[in-house]
Amino acid sequence: MATETLTLDQKTIDTVKATVPALQEHGTKITKHFYKTMFKNHPELKNIFNQTNQRKGDQQKALANTVLAAAMYIDNLGAILPVVKQIGEKHRSLNIKPEHYPIVGENLLIAIKEVLGDAATDDIMTAWEKAYGVIADVFISIEKEMYEEVANKKGGWVDYRDFKVVEKVKESDVITSFYLQPVDGGEIATFLPGQYITVKAEIEDQPYNHLRQYSLSCAPGQNYYRISVKREDAIGDNPAGIVSNFLHKRLEKGSVLPISAPGGDFVLDLKDTRPLVLISGGVGLTPMMSMLETVIKEQPEREVYYIHAARNGKLHAMKARVDEITRNHSQVKSYTVYDNPVEGDQFDKEGYIDYEWLRTILPTNDAAFYFCGPKGFMRAMYQNLTKFGANESDIHFEIFGPADDITN
Ligand SMILES: Cc1cc2nc3c(=O)[nH]c(=O)nc-3n(C[C@H](O)[C@H](O)[C@H](O)COP(=O)(O)OP(=O)(O)OC[C@H]3O[C@@H](n4cnc5c(N)ncnc54)[C@H](O)[C@@H]3O)c2cc1C
Ligand code: HEM
Repeated sequence: MATETLTLDQKTIDTVKATVPALQEHGTKITKHFYKTMFKNHPELKNIFNQTNQRKGDQQKALANTVLAAAMYIDNLGAILPVVKQIGEKHRSLNIKPEHYPIVGENLLIAIKEVLGDAATDDIMTAWEKAYGVIADVFISIEKEMYEEVANKKGGWVDYRDFKVVEKVKESDVITSFYLQPVDGGEIATFLPGQYITVKAEIEDQPYNHLRQYSLSCAPGQNYYRISVKREDAIGDNPAGIVSNFLHKRLEKGSVLPISAPGGDFVLDLKDTRPLVLISGGVGLTPMMSMLETVIKEQPEREVYYIHAARNGKLHAMKARVDEITRNHSQVKSYTVYDNPVEGDQFDKEGYIDYEWLRTILPTNDAAFYFCGPKGFMRAMYQNLTKFGANESDIHFEIFGPADDITN
């Protein structure tokens, strides 16, 4: 990393750093302009970028703002390596290639010029062009390693590979599981519990493909992958979710679905032997189920606390399996929390997972904590766990959407 930054002279570094704050101040203007011109010049990229995130404005900030944030570390990019790796996992899963980087660079420069106006001198524009090149090289080289890893892995592959649905199982009123095996009949790559795949939905009446991530909800080591998908229904003015409805309504046993190889950095650390605390809300149970199924096999002695929150029993997927695990493994304790129970529901707490209740359940804060669920839920869990005294480094979570800060 240090060697790439050596190619930048001090004047370039100083110029870039001096202009970052002004650009960050106009973050929204930059990102709007950036995506508008990029999709106008390269409409084919609508096949890659999540167009719903674009409409909702969720993703708009992430890409361009990360380039600006990275520019502040332009002389020490090693400091942001963990972030680059996390984004790199998403990029690799989406099949982002080196040839895409100049397109983003060109349109980002156009947006920067637009925002800075007359202040965008030739010197400033040249400095930004060089800086973007260096940042892009860091991403490209890290992603190259990731592509090599999935290509060389037993059963691994690059790009999308056709899988067929071998089983479709309704898990609750809104969640359905799809068991997937490769059409080519070959082996499939193993994965780490917590990782996701990207599915490419090629929907007949849609002008573009839609890519979405789904966490694997089974343990590794099977001859199939399993994803469990929540059907996002239309609510008020918000239309029904495109891909989840396509999967629920049009994907049947025998249907083919192209997917990318598993990836992601939200993974269970099996070297840690301390108690494991898994907490999920709604469909956030998918990576937790993979972790739970794995830990009981790989670390049968490890204490596990699994807490799941759902509206009620009708929307609670995989309860029977968790009950079975709890019955057969005395080291596993599981708790169910419903905020809107219906008649006949069996649960441990009504309402939400709050701090006061959590501290009566968990024996120690010297544990590994993993959680996943809707954003509001995740913010609350983060606060509960920090209040409980959990170490920052022991708290792990996955956001089922564009990167966001749930820690404040
Ligand atoms: C790492 C990762 C793992 C994931 N794992 C899972 C998993 O295991 N299971 C799972 O079910 N999901 C998972 N997801 C979420 C999944 O990728 C999809 O985002 C989800 O299925 C919704 O996609 P969709 O195409 O159905 O909905 P989209 O069409 O993307 O819409 C999403 C939501 O936005 C609303 N919406 C649409 N347009 C607008 C608008 N203009 N204004 C306001 N709201 C709007 C829709 O009503 C819908 O509720 C994961 C996501 C990530 C990033
Ligand atoms: C140095 C350049 C780049 C930076 C700093 C960057 C940064 C980011 C960040 C921060 C995210 C959000 C990650 C997350 O949600 O977890 C992201 C996602 C994404 N990036 Fe990049 N990116 C860069 C280049 C590219 C390129 C070249 C492409 C392809 C043209 C691309 C396509 C995407 C897509 C499709 C997503 C998923 C988000 C969505 O579809 O809504 N990125 N990137």
